[in-house]
Amino acid sequence: MNTLLPLLGAPVPASGAPGPDLLPDAARAGLTTTPFGLYVHVPFCATRCGYCDFNTYTSDELGPGANRAEYAGTAIAELRRAAETLGPDLPTVSTVFVGGGTPTLLPADDLAAVLLAVRELFPVADDVEVTTEANPESVTPSSLSRLRKAGFTRVSLGMQSAAEHVLAVLDRKHTPGRAVEAAHEARAAGFEHVNLDLIYGAPGETDADWAASVAAVLAAPVDHVSAYALIVEEGTRLARRIGRGELPMPDDDVLADRYEQADAAFRGAGLDWYEVSNWAAGDAARCRHNELYWANANWWGVGPGAHSHVGGLRWWNVKHPAAYAERLAHGESPAQDAELLDDADRALEAVMLGLRLRNGLPLTLLSATGRERADDAVTRGLLEPAAHAAGRAVLTDRGRLLADAVVRDLTG
Ligand SMILES: C[S@@+](CC[C@H](N)C(=O)[O-])C[C@H]1O[C@@H](n2cnc3c(N)ncnc32)[C@H](O)[C@@H]1O
Ligand code: SF4
Repeated sequence: MNTLLPLLGAPVPASGAPGPDLLPDAARAGLTTTPFGLYVHVPFCATRCGYCDFNTYTSDELGPGANRAEYAGTAIAELRRAAETLGPDLPTVSTVFVGGGTPTLLPADDLAAVLLAVRELFPVADDVEVTTEANPESVTPSSLSRLRKAGFTRVSLGMQSAAEHVLAVLDRKHTPGRAVEAAHEARAAGFEHVNLDLIYGAPGETDADWAASVAAVLAAPVDHVSAYALIVEEGTRLARRIGRGELPMPDDDVLADRYEQADAAFRGAGLDWYEVSNWAAGDAARCRHNELYWANANWWGVGPGAHSHVGGLRWWNVKHPAAYAERLAHGESPAQDAELLDDADRALEAVMLGLRLRNGLPLTLLSATGRERADDAVTRGLLEPAAHAAGRAVLTDRGRLLADAVVRDLTG
């Protein structure tokens, strides 16, 4: 077992219950001055999409020991532990993000109860951003209205595509129009911030399909779009189908074309990129919770498999919902393992995350080799020359297409 785990009270030492000062002093420093967010993972889906390897379970996959109806109570038990561990001087919560899985498979009242518990246990910023992810087919005008009234401020809907055959290849269960309809319902329920997620490069997707998906998003009442290149994750049904030769592997050149096509259309509609896969209609429309991750600030991840980071201490929970619920039912921490990042690890993370942002990062964060490679990346048209001259590494449009390779190069 990792020697850091007792610091998190996981499992409860035989000597007695964990005390209030479970975080190492180094991690506690800056707790009340660093932006702090809460992530709540909801590990359930009605069916599994063939491309997805997130920690989520359908009722068939779940087995005994974890019950959807009891999940909100279990998550609240971890929130209570979080407040005890981080206290007595608790950080103010600036963002809450309920993700999945499919959070909206839980009744809206359960999600409202989780948010109420956050408010009872933590100081919460007046302008707190509270997002829930949602599947288009698992929300209704009344559930959205209930969520809005409970204090949710932002909804992120998984649309993926407007083409029926693409949705079919991805194993999505909603019709092409349902995500846009749900975005309208979210607006009508009073949500100012609505995001649609798209995936590009699925087998069989044509340029025209993608253009139609982008146009459908732009005709919807959204102030944010996320567009992800399809990743073929090992162990998924999609990977097996590609492995058997039933479906082709996404083509890198096609992925690059799709990205450029979407970026031009989003930009033309007033949605500017602020992270390689994310576009927003102005600063107020950005997802502040994700910005908090990218800035390597502090967050506590509640739920099975959820990751947390506080002041350089990173830990992650046991993966299975039954094991997670059992730990909490026995008054134990659900943390499975932890690691303390040293300065070099933290610098590397700052570069990996910061380089994907529109503002890039100061060249001083790069190693000597990284700075030499940055000079070269400017010559190759991957980093902005003017920003570089002013001391920052900022991706060019071409650099964004090759963002992962640039990150590898500058951190290698
Ligand atoms: C974990 S899902 C949760 C949202 C919700 N369950 C849904 O699917 O509508 C968040 C987003 O991750 C993206 N995603 C998941 N797996 C992916 C993959 N293999 N490649 C690209 N994007 C992926 C999808 O766009 C999805 O909307
Ligand atoms: S993409 Fe969303 S709905 Fe599909 S399996 Fe993953 S989390 Fe569930």
